[in-house]
Amino acid sequence: MSDIHPVDPAFAARAHIRKDDYQRMYARSVEDPEGFWKDMSGRLDWVTPPTKIKNVSYDPKDLYIKWYEDGTLNVAANCLDRHLEKRGDKTAIIFEGDDPNESRSLTYRELHREVCKFANTLKNLGVAKGDRVIVYLPMIPEAAVAMLACARIGAIHSVVFGGFSPDSLAGRIADSGAKLVITADEGCRGGKKIPLKANVDESLTRPHTNSVETVIVVRRTGGAINLQSPRDRWYHTLMEGQSTDCLPEAMNAEDPLFTLYTSGSTGLPKGVLHTSGGYLVYASMTHELIFDVREDDVYWCTADVGWITGHSYVVYGPLANGATVVMFDGVPNYPDFSRFWQVVDKHQVTLFYTAPTAIRALMREGEEPVKKTSRKSLRLLGTVGEPINPEAWNWYYRVVGDERCPIVDTWWQTETGGILITPLPGATDLKPGSATLPFFGITPAIVDTDGKPQEGACSGNLVITDSWPGQMRTVYGDHQRFVDTYFKTYPGNYFTGDGARRDEDGYYWITGRVDDVINVSGHRIGTAEVESALVANHKVAEAAVVGCHHDIKGQGIYAYVTLVAGETGSEELRKELIAGVRKEIGPIAVPDFLQWAPGLPKTRSGKIMRRILRKIAENQPDQLGDISTLADPSVVKSLVEERLIK
Ligand code: PRX
Repeated sequence: MSDIHPVDPAFAARAHIRKDDYQRMYARSVEDPEGFWKDMSGRLDWVTPPTKIKNVSYDPKDLYIKWYEDGTLNVAANCLDRHLEKRGDKTAIIFEGDDPNESRSLTYRELHREVCKFANTLKNLGVAKGDRVIVYLPMIPEAAVAMLACARIGAIHSVVFGGFSPDSLAGRIADSGAKLVITADEGCRGGKKIPLKANVDESLTRPHTNSVETVIVVRRTGGAINLQSPRDRWYHTLMEGQSTDCLPEAMNAEDPLFTLYTSGSTGLPKGVLHTSGGYLVYASMTHELIFDVREDDVYWCTADVGWITGHSYVVYGPLANGATVVMFDGVPNYPDFSRFWQVVDKHQVTLFYTAPTAIRALMREGEEPVKKTSRKSLRLLGTVGEPINPEAWNWYYRVVGDERCPIVDTWWQTETGGILITPLPGATDLKPGSATLPFFGITPAIVDTDGKPQEGACSGNLVITDSWPGQMRTVYGDHQRFVDTYFKTYPGNYFTGDGARRDEDGYYWITGRVDDVINVSGHRIGTAEVESALVANHKVAEAAVVGCHHDIKGQGIYAYVTLVAGETGSEELRKELIAGVRKEIGPIAVPDFLQWAPGLPKTRSGKIMRRILRKIAENQPDQLGDISTLADPSVVKSLVEERLIK
């Protein structure tokens, strides 16, 4: 029996959605999706309101996903212009820097003005509807300005997380064919500088990046950089004298809003493409109802805009709802482990959304750094990115929330655009560790490996049987990859890549990825990417990468490396390989463990048996299962003996 936290009646009394509302609305959303989502489209301002609501085929031979396809709107106008009359002087963004002495805020009117000016800047530089723009910025308001300015003129942004290396950035530039990159001189995190502009310079020396005509540089730290004329331009110089009027482009609901690169089981990261109308309906609605947002809330999501959480729940959802959002450019442990809670007190944050990995890291430091702050303003907590273990959930509930705040454990993915499985704080009894129940319009199912749906309490692979407006539409430039990745495994369903259990109350418990994706601190890393970074070193013959248990990160990266004949594994070579991964992908993909492997366990047809490597990395050598089908079963013995986690 798991622990149950019933809905707090006082919370429910003021909540948008209560238990009976949930049941009634959920039933309607799945019985009459057309009618339900037509009504929900009314939360946005449309230039032309849609009359066609849903047009979807999950047939792998003829797959398309369209929502609101005859509607037109502008996403930026929905996030800004329509608030000006009533909320013009309301704070839109509270910026809190890495340095605790740095903060500033922008009202909706000020943000609107900046966005219009930057949209005009982009236009003057020749950026037009459909062009791709790379955003490689720290968590500063200019990141939101850049995204919204693209949306205003119909350019497609692709935000690249500032922690990615020049090589990763180059790959994304090449795949997107971007015309323009916007970056900063440097970023600062935890008191350290990150050479963003120098990274851009380096990335633009790589092949297939010459689509980039202009690099715009925001002055963040004032650090020395190399400005290459005429390619590189200062943001502040370009913005001078720009008009604060810029008519928003009327976009079709199915016109692309952005692409965001994410890792999969195979190959290079893929450009997940989201469109305009359905995405914004879904992001804004989930944001309002799941966080139970009210007019006077101060909402803080700690995710970086380089991830989907930063898109849907720092920028688009909250701003479409006219909320006040905190944008934080720092880290939880700088200057000390109280930082999150100091920021909560400083800005009187009411709704707080973070990742389990941050909670576990803070938990390790004990209660004192939390308890010395007030946190009285908080009324709801949220988590996202990976399964939260009940110990961390309980600590978050008890120590951070003083047993006063419901916790919404929100399950979703880059591909889903918004949250799919989650509690609604005024409606759902909570069970620590469970993402609980589906949001409106979401039809999860659990299937066995043959695709057979399981009934009642069960476990297996998590699929979604029907579409929702926030779903990704395609992989940029590779529709077949979209079909193959998500719709071929269990035809007729969207396959999430996650395993899950459903309990007797119909609650979902996400158990983690069932494919070759590792979830490190809530960030997706494809094993194939790390392997290819390792084998790029000529001393490496072969590499296999799997996930392993990690107390703080949730999963760590465990690499098995086979060297070419004549090479021996030394500490020096280990460092060289790690540096190689850091260079090719970035610090987040660096292996936590690197084991020299005389050989890898393979089937007779040459396929690496990852199942066995996973068990060794999980320190479960007694659960390897049948190894008799291996081409050379003896390699397993030495791998087990030399394993790095015992
Ligand atoms: O495995 C699931 C895990 O994160 C994956 C999606 O990663 P990404 O696309 O980077 O998006 C992360 C932020 C939405 C999922 O396939 N995941 C995400 N949220 C949860 C989760 N696992 C368990 N519980 C969650 N709340």
